[in-house]
Amino acid sequence: MKIAVLPGDGIGTEIVAEAVKVLHALDLKFEMETALVGGTAYDAHGHPLPDATLKLAKESDAVLFGAVGDWKYDTLERQFRPEQAILGLRKNLGLFANFRPAICYEQLVAASSLKPELIAGLDILIIRELTGDIYFGQPRGRRTAVDGHFPGAEEAFDTMRYSRPEVERIARVAFEAARKRSKRVTSVDKANVLETFQFWKDIVTEVGKEYPDVELDHMYVDNAAMQLVKAPKKFDVVVTGNMFGDILSDEAAMLTGSIGMLPSASLNSSNQGLYEPSHGSAPDIAGKGVANPLATILSAAMMLRYSLNQEEAAQRIETAVKKVLAQGLRTPDIYSAGTTKVGTVEMGDAVLKAL
Ligand code: IPM
Ligand code: MG
Repeated sequence: MKIAVLPGDGIGTEIVAEAVKVLHALDLKFEMETALVGGTAYDAHGHPLPDATLKLAKESDAVLFGAVGDWKYDTLERQFRPEQAILGLRKNLGLFANFRPAICYEQLVAASSLKPELIAGLDILIIRELTGDIYFGQPRGRRTAVDGHFPGAEEAFDTMRYSRPEVERIARVAFEAARKRSKRVTSVDKANVLETFQFWKDIVTEVGKEYPDVELDHMYVDNAAMQLVKAPKKFDVVVTGNMFGDILSDEAAMLTGSIGMLPSASLNSSNQGLYEPSHGSAPDIAGKGVANPLATILSAAMMLRYSLNQEEAAQRIETAVKKVLAQGLRTPDIYSAGTTKVGTVEMGDAVLKAL
């Protein structure tokens, strides 16, 4: 089992170190190799995704990823910005299926900005298509407008597009995932306005016929954004495109009280995957030892489950995390009165002990 460890920028190094510590405590043999990615890679090698890092990721069964980005790189040309590393990995490894669970842990109900009764027991799974849509669609760029409201003016454009096989395969991933849960899929689109998403809706409906045991409904993205805060527990598996999935998954994450708790998995068709916390690099708290390592530790559990075929070890980690929460240990992002505030390393140590 070969794991590429890519900590990245900001709090990435601190949180990935805790997840690696937890992995080493399992009675399993891993080959782990660390490489630079994001802003730190740009500083050292002039590129956020150096060839050696990409090669390592391709050769590995799984990538354990921290986070990338820092305000100091915001003025760089787009191709050199840290975000290009994660986009490049998704594209080059073909990681089209992104799993973003939003689970509200019993002990953290109070940390959500929503009323407890709305989110207690929340367990939804957002499946975001990750290698298509307006994120990667060509052509894109800047030019002089030849038509539109201001012919002759400077303009910028991106292309929203999906091909039939792209929609079919992500739909299948969603239906398969739903079979292992409550057998319900909500497909989110904007079919009332966009050609791309009428096509999406038609294909998801077609594929749905192969899964008569799974209930399928469709929702426009604006309504989905509203329903997510109105009655989030009505959702189970949500499948959507890259752009809408980016937005809705942040919204869903926040329902649970802390984005510091949420793992994610991005898989290709051979189950090779990249595992990362749903949150970013948080440069404002980097190096202070206060970041929550649990999302990364839980991402390592997802890695064991989906790419390394070690379900039992995955469950051991998840149980250990629940235990630590039950003990009342909290990093500042999930702290509430009456609990014990701990730092990044202490939290990792507590998970180790619970293991
Ligand atoms: C995410 C992030 C990325 C995205 C950025 C960092 C490129 O927001 O993983 O959701 O937009 O996909
Ligand atoms: Mg995002």
